[in-house]
Parts: sequence; C-alpha cells; structure tokens
Amino acid sequence: MGGDVSAPAGRVVRVNGPLVEVEGLGGVAMLELVALGPDRVSAEIVALEGTRATLQAYEYTGGIRAGDVAEATGDQLVGVLGPGLLGHAFDGLLRPLSDAPLWLGPERAAADAAREEAAWRFVPAVGIGDRVERGDVLGTVPDSGSVEHRVLAGVAGEVTWLAGEAPVRASDVVARVGDSEVRLAERWPVRTPRPIRDRPPGVAPIHTGQRVLDLLYPLASGAAAAVPGGFGTGKTMLLQQIAKWSDADVIVYVGCGERGNEMADVLDGLATLVDERTGGRLIDRTVIIANTSNMPMMAREASIYTGICVAEYYRDMGHDSVVIADSTSRWAEALREFSNRNGDLPAEEGYPASLASALAAFYERAGRVTTLGGRTASVTVIGAVSPPGGDMTEPVTTDTQRFVRSLWLLDRELAYARHYPAVSWTGSFARDAEPLGLWHSANGDPGWARRRARAASLLAEADRLADLAEIIGTSSLPGHERMVLLGGRLLRDGVLLQNALSRNDAFCSAAKGAALLDLVLDVVDTCQVLVERGVPASVIERHDFGPVLRAREDVGPDDAAAVTERRIAVLGELEGLA
Ligand SMILES: Nc1ncnc2c1ncn2[C@@H]1O[C@H](COP(=O)(O)OP(=O)(O)OP(=O)(O)O)[C@@H](O)[C@H]1O
Ligand SMILES: [Mg+2]
Repeated sequence: MGGDVSAPAGRVVRVNGPLVEVEGLGGVAMLELVALGPDRVSAEIVALEGTRATLQAYEYTGGIRAGDVAEATGDQLVGVLGPGLLGHAFDGLLRPLSDAPLWLGPERAAADAAREEAAWRFVPAVGIGDRVERGDVLGTVPDSGSVEHRVLAGVAGEVTWLAGEAPVRASDVVARVGDSEVRLAERWPVRTPRPIRDRPPGVAPIHTGQRVLDLLYPLASGAAAAVPGGFGTGKTMLLQQIAKWSDADVIVYVGCGERGNEMADVLDGLATLVDERTGGRLIDRTVIIANTSNMPMMAREASIYTGICVAEYYRDMGHDSVVIADSTSRWAEALREFSNRNGDLPAEEGYPASLASALAAFYERAGRVTTLGGRTASVTVIGAVSPPGGDMTEPVTTDTQRFVRSLWLLDRELAYARHYPAVSWTGSFARDAEPLGLWHSANGDPGWARRRARAASLLAEADRLADLAEIIGTSSLPGHERMVLLGGRLLRDGVLLQNALSRNDAFCSAAKGAALLDLVLDVVDTCQVLVERGVPASVIERHDFGPVLRAREDVGPDDAAAVTERRIAVLGELEGLA
C-alpha cells in the first residue's frame, strides 16, 4: 500500500472484538485505513476524538495487544479496479479469495504483486493527438469473456502518448492525456459513489428470465429490488437464477454472511453454463464477492460497498450491471454487532439508529445513468432480506421496503407447498410497472400491461373464491366462479411455477412468458364461454389440462411459437366440449 509512512504511529489501547481504540495517531482522517500490530491487521477509522480514534477492524483481532503499533496508511478502503475481476472470486475487501487472509500484511503485498504481474494487451481506440473528454474510451483490454473491458480517460485533453503492442501490467501506464497518466488499473474508495453525468429520464426493464417477476413484478434496469423471505423460502435460489439468466452485461454477486458452500455452488453453476446471448461462459460476466459466515464479520460491512463499487466501474464502461447481495440482513447484523460494542444507544431491536441511512446509502447507488463518457448504463441492485423468524415487521425488512422499487416477497406457505419461486402475489409490488408497460408497448408487446392486470385480478379473485369454497364447498359455487378457481390453478402451476432445475424451464424468454400467460388467459375465457353455453362446470373441470400445465417444461426456453401452437390445439379441444 502506498501509505504515508511518515505519519506518527499510534498505540492500541483497547480491543473489543472488531472494535479497536487507538491513541496518538496524528493527522488522520475519518475512514482512513490503519494497520494494526505486527500482522498489520486492517482497520478503518470510524470515530475521532482528539488524538483518540475508534477503528473497525476487518480481520480477526485475536493477536492484537494493548500497546501494539497502529500505523496510518494514508488511504481509504479502496478497491483495485482493473482487468482480471470477471470470472474470479474475491473477499469483502476485493482481495483474490485464493490469496492470503491478511490484507495490509506481507502476504497481501505478494498477492497484489502477482495480480499486478499479470500481463494484458492494450488495444488503443484513439490516436495520438486526438482530443478526448473525461470518460471517453482510450482503448480496450481483451479479458477472458465477452464483456469488453474499456479503459477510460480520467481527464479531458489531448492524447499525448499510447502504450505499444507489448504486454502491459495492471500498474503500467497505457496512455497519457495531456500530462495525466492513465494506468490499466485504478484504485477507488469503495464507499464513494463514482461520478456520473446525469440520470436520464425513462425506464427500461431488466429481463430476469423468471416469469413471476417479468410478468407480474418487473424491475426497471437501474432500480433496486429486495427479496424478503423467511428461512429456507428460496431467496438464494431465486438470486442465483437471476445471476444466471438475467439479461445484464455484468453480475456482481455478493455473498454476505451466508454459507460458504452456497458460494461454491454459484461458482460451479456459472462455470458450466453457457451465456446464450454471447456464447461465452456465464462465469465470465460475473464477479463473485464472498464474505461468508465463517469469515471476519466486519468485512461483511464493507463487502456490499465493494460490490457496488465494482458494478459502478463496469457501468462507467457502458455496461448494465447487477449487484446481488445475499443477505443484507447478515450485513445489518455486522452493523449491529459493531454499534453494540461501541456502546451506541440502540434503536429498534438493537440495530443502530443509522440502520435506515446505511440501507439507503446502499440501495441509492442503484441507477440508470449517463456516464461521464455519455453512455447510458446502469447499476441494478437486488438484495435478499432474511427476517428472523419470518417477522416482516422487523427493522431491516421495513426500512428496506422504503428504498426499493420492486419487492419480491417470498411466501412461506408457497415454499412449503413447493411452489417455487415462492414469490407472493399479495405482498409483492413493482412501483415501475406502469412506465414499464409503456416501454413494452413501444417495444413490440402492446398487450403486456393488460395481460399483467388480468393475471393479477385472476389470482386475487381465485384466492377469494378458494377461501369461500373452503367454507361452502366448490360445488356450491356458480359455474363461472368455478372457472375462476380453475384459471387460478392453471395460472399458478402453468405460468408462475418455474422449475429451476429444468433445461426448458429454468430460464424463460419474454416472448415465451407472454405466450404462456396468453395460453392460460385464453383457456379461462373459453371455459367461461362454455359455461355460459350451458356446459356443466364439472365436465370442464374433468378435462385434461395437462398440456397447459406442461407447456412451460415441454417447449424450449424461447419457443413462444410452440406455446402458441399448443394454445390453438387446446382451445380446439375445449370447443369440442360444447
Ligand atoms: N426455484 C426452486 N426450484 C426448486 N427448488 C427450490 C427453488 N427455490 C428453493 N428451492 C428449494 O428450497 C430450498 C431452500 O432454498 P434456498 O436455500 O434458496 O432458501 P433461502 O431462503 O436462501 O434459505 P436461507 O434462509 O437458509 O438462506 C432449496 O434447497 C431447494 O430445495
Ligand atoms: Mg439463502
């Protein structure tokens, strides 16, 4: 680390878990990183009072004693951003996971050196003498996958020098703009949002490939969503599906205090899957940041900012990035742990009073922006929330709901019934559904909003009638209400249910999703017509709707035409009942 070694060193006076108090550090600032003890354990200054500083340590403080040296580094918590991130796994502080545990210590230096030694090719996109603006692309670096790695100008000016064909290392200068040097890798303080030009009006959807989301609770690209759900309701599975199948350019998957084997699953899953859009491996568009439950707790706190920072880095290149954080509740626990040790006055359920603003600081870094270089690009944020005991009134859940545009609430009853993804149609919401409907209208699917409204009302009506039927019995309901019950079942099992383990069903294109919903809605309409014409409800109920229910698994992930064919066949059969 290029710290200011001349700053006066301090001495550790108190250690309480990740909380360390230091006396005598001179000329330091809030958020500065300090190296503690002979192992140079990294810690960040979170409070200053005279010459006394309170630090939040990112590594085990087990070996630190009172009297140990505390040395300011002159740096904040920075991520080294450059080629070599995609397809790899890092810890909460963006250290390669395969490398040594200590960050500021000698092992870190060796790991950094290894990363810096890696050789890259720089392919200029400008010529010497060209005039560039801040954020313009100076050149590209072929990385492992199909995500174009772009090196941007940090300042406006004239290109005065460009690296030649020889391989370059991360720390090498690859261009000069005026007098200013542009290196392949840059260091950025992860807690500071990277600058943008502005936030353009308008929305566009992110396609997740999960029907219940894309059809009912869509998410705008650059917006934030949360997935609250009790223990084992399928949060991680849903987030992993989104990581695999959403139409983003770059995925940053932050495993935050969850099980380590789940992160291994993510890596394995992505490594073997092919990205249909690019033909490359899905892993090559993904950066994994893992701070699992067995790793130091406070690095969790940093890990979500690290994740956002990496996503902003790719956004600035012009890519649409998605940050997935599993789970923000484990992150909030780290906040609580630290603030309790610090003796802060606890607010609700022991969380610090700053919980809401910390959550806001995370979700508000989502956005669809015009980059400094003039490209439209986005950071979308999706966070899991694991309320203890499934209690949706606890602070992390209620605060989160205020800051997100879409809420995908997982329902315990649905999960018990193995209806996956267990996204509730009573507690979920999508605040941008209306403008996204207009977007669909303008982009080839004018029926999107109407289809969504019909599905929502069919689900609500079917739920209401199911409650009633439980009391008075289905056979006491009039025929047209029995058709609503039938339609609700077809909609739930034939459209909303999605098998994450099926080749055909794990991912669903927008066109296939629309065709499946049209299939169910048309079947319901036809059944209603049959009832009106006097066909007994029981006759229709006994009809074999297997072809409707199996369509999602029978036809390919993007085969809307096959669904349409099936619709024609099924409607024909139904007509035969009249
Ligand atoms: N889409 C799905 N398809 C099939 N099975 C699923 C699906 N989603 C969840 N499951 C089943 O539910 C189990 C629990 O899912 P998951 O681990 O995603 O829940 P979670 O909410 O993340 O749990 P935790 O609270 O422990 O983090 C899975 O192991 C799997 O058996
Ligand atoms: Mg989980």
